[in-house]
Amino acid sequence: MADLKLHVNGAEMQTQAAEDEPLLWVLRNRLGLTGTKYGCGEGQCGACTVLLDGKATRSCLTPASAAVDAKITTIEGLEQQGRLTAVQQAFLEEGAMQCGYCTSGMVMAATALLREHAHPSEEQVMEAMNGNMCRCGTYPRIAAAIRRAAWGTVEKKGAAYARG
Ligand code: FES
Ligand code: FES
Repeated sequence: MADLKLHVNGAEMQTQAAEDEPLLWVLRNRLGLTGTKYGCGEGQCGACTVLLDGKATRSCLTPASAAVDAKITTIEGLEQQGRLTAVQQAFLEEGAMQCGYCTSGMVMAATALLREHAHPSEEQVMEAMNGNMCRCGTYPRIAAAIRRAAWGTVEKKGAAYARG
């Protein structure tokens, strides 16, 4: 075990972690940030997505020790003073979840996308969201939420992330 200092959601957090302990387990089990989900543990589903310096990152594959110099953002860190982000609000308004297990990772991936491309092309959405799986098949509503967050309304031309 080693001491670990992480910068999470705007705060310095101290904990301990085993060598190579995945960031996912440090966030969930040591820091109590259970909004980040464990799906496959192999980088294949995106449920564990967090932002490292704004970049969507699989926390199940990232050793916590590799994140000490990064600004880590989890789903708990998006809302500010009771105000949801545009992406969070759009997911709610579009009902872009069923069981909700994938939602945290979807929101984080969409957040990273829209921070980089405020009005993404269809290709950019597909590329950014392609690794995020939804077992409930809510892809059309997730696509609508991303369009709403990017364009303010689903009617305007935007990206079409719809595999389901
Ligand atoms: S739990 Fe990390 S990608 Fe599935
Ligand atoms: S809403 Fe159930 S896995 Fe996506």
